[in-house]
Amino acid sequence: MELIEAITTRASKRKFKDQPIPHEIINKILTISLRAPSWANSQPWEIAVSTGKTSDIIKSRIYKSASNDDPGNPDFPFPVLWPEKQSKNMFETGKHRYESLKISRDDNDKRKEITLSNYLFFGSQTAIFIYMDENLGCWSMLDCGILLQNILLCVNDFGLGACPQAYLVRYPDVLRDAFNLSSSKKFVVGISIGYYDEKEDINNIYTSRNDLNEIVKFYD
Ligand SMILES: Cc1cc2nc3c(=O)[nH]c(=O)nc-3n(C[C@H](O)[C@H](O)[C@H](O)COP(=O)(O)O)c2cc1C
Repeated sequence: MELIEAITTRASKRKFKDQPIPHEIINKILTISLRAPSWANSQPWEIAVSTGKTSDIIKSRIYKSASNDDPGNPDFPFPVLWPEKQSKNMFETGKHRYESLKISRDDNDKRKEITLSNYLFFGSQTAIFIYMDENLGCWSMLDCGILLQNILLCVNDFGLGACPQAYLVRYPDVLRDAFNLSSSKKFVVGISIGYYDEKEDINNIYTSRNDLNEIVKFYD
């Protein structure tokens, strides 16, 4: 797959098959992705790949917390108030998603079911977690973001699907427990990754972007 095709065809997938991904494939994806640039090649990221029984334990614990409306304590707090433009983008993306899935605005049960499926890795057995040391700051977070995009593009190139998820790091103590990490390790993001059925409506949502002229200005 050409780079431009990998970028333009990538879209988040949210329904995976219950099929394990061989470790060699994950290793190939991560070896390539770890070519990401970082501040002075500091390589601030650390990665935990959850599969098998570890995934079962994480999923059952975070699903239970989310079902009980536990707000969690993410290491990097979730934003509460978004500026108007970003709120509008998010509202329209949500509206488009639920319309595509033919779920009405007031079907709270169905919406909750979809939200909760976040905590089950959207049906996959595998999730990749990016974390970093507490002494690193926002520039290292930026580096982790570049790594995240590399992973998403490689996953697409390998014919697999992925969804980056803030929700997966909502209960970081569960992750530190599962991966035997000290409290000095802070979770940036999780990525569910798996095989998926292209015919599923939820795997066929292509989100829009603001027009170029709303975002880019040339200063000659
Ligand atoms: C940092 C980050 C966190 C995200 N968290 C979630 C999440 O918790 N759950 C989810 O379903 N999607 C999550 N997403 C996916 C976005 O909703 C998605 O990227 C966006 O709507 C654009 O759609 P696309 O990925 O299909 O282009 C996240 C994306 C990013 C980059």
